[in-house]
Amino acid sequence: MAEVPEYLLARSKERRAELTGEGADDSGGTSSTAAATPTDGDTSSAAPSAPASTTTPATQSSAGAGAPAERVAAPVAAPEPDPPYVQAAQQRKRMPYWAASVMLMLPIWAIFYVGMLEPPDSDELVLAENGSVVYSTCASCHGTNGEGAATGRQLNEGEVLLTFAPGATGLAQHISWVYLGTAGSQRIGLDFYGNPDRPGGQRQTNSYASGMSGFSNLSLEDLVSVVYYERVVHGGLDAETAALEEEMLLALAADDPAFETASPEEIAALLGESAEGHGVDMAADN
Ligand code: HEC
Repeated sequence: MAEVPEYLLARSKERRAELTGEGADDSGGTSSTAAATPTDGDTSSAAPSAPASTTTPATQSSAGAGAPAERVAAPVAAPEPDPPYVQAAQQRKRMPYWAASVMLMLPIWAIFYVGMLEPPDSDELVLAENGSVVYSTCASCHGTNGEGAATGRQLNEGEVLLTFAPGATGLAQHISWVYLGTAGSQRIGLDFYGNPDRPGGQRQTNSYASGMSGFSNLSLEDLVSVVYYERVVHGGLDAETAALEEEMLLALAADDPAFETASPEEIAALLGESAEGHGVDMAADN
């Protein structure tokens, strides 16, 4: 630390005396303060290398007997030691110089990395997993496990597949139903929904509780995910049909077509087009 000219020190002492109201007694008072400061535990423990440092002459003076004479005399003229927080900042580890270039490369690397990733197409979509998340919006009416409630029909134990049969036709009806809900289905003239040959008779629209709202606000990915989830988890869809339906749904989600009426027929047609476009082998469909 550069020596501070004597007259400046004197001036700052006076100034401090004015501010604190302490007496401006130069020699005795100040030197004892200066000697006291460095002996506080903080400074010396935070500065293990202090003896080699010229920035804290006061520390050396307090080291006592072994210190050279001129050092002992020095504290009178010594500038105030830096406050502990300044010393801490000076002693803190710095970023190594080479890190700057690493930081500079980071955005470039990020662009490369993102570019290397597959475009987020439907191959990345795990229908059943995503569907289990989406299903939380349905669980309030249909029960956590699809067991049904006063507000929504039972879906589990295969019930949902009785209404919307395995295979492309039932799949399309299922998607249409969830998208339109009770009122939406009625609006396009559907007084019944699902499999006409359902055991116990075809489902009549608005035949349970106060009906179901449509979920046209879901993204197509979320819509097909929750439908797939219900069919596999609640319906117990067999593995072979599940694999086929999953491929069809992924193809549809990848194409992401806009629905006009979202009728079961329209969605069946769109499912077929996407399946064909993506080379889905429909041989397993029944
Ligand atoms: C407000 C309560 C409610 C919510 C929320 C709800 N449903 Fe429904 N759901 C119903 C009712 C009521 C019916 C029967 C509708 C009717 O009779 O018109 C139904 C019927 C169904 C059916 C046909 C079941 C059958 O065998 O007839 C499916 C499938 C279905 N809901 C799926 C879903 C999905 C998927 C969600 C979430 C995205 C959902 N529901 C959210 C109340 C609800």
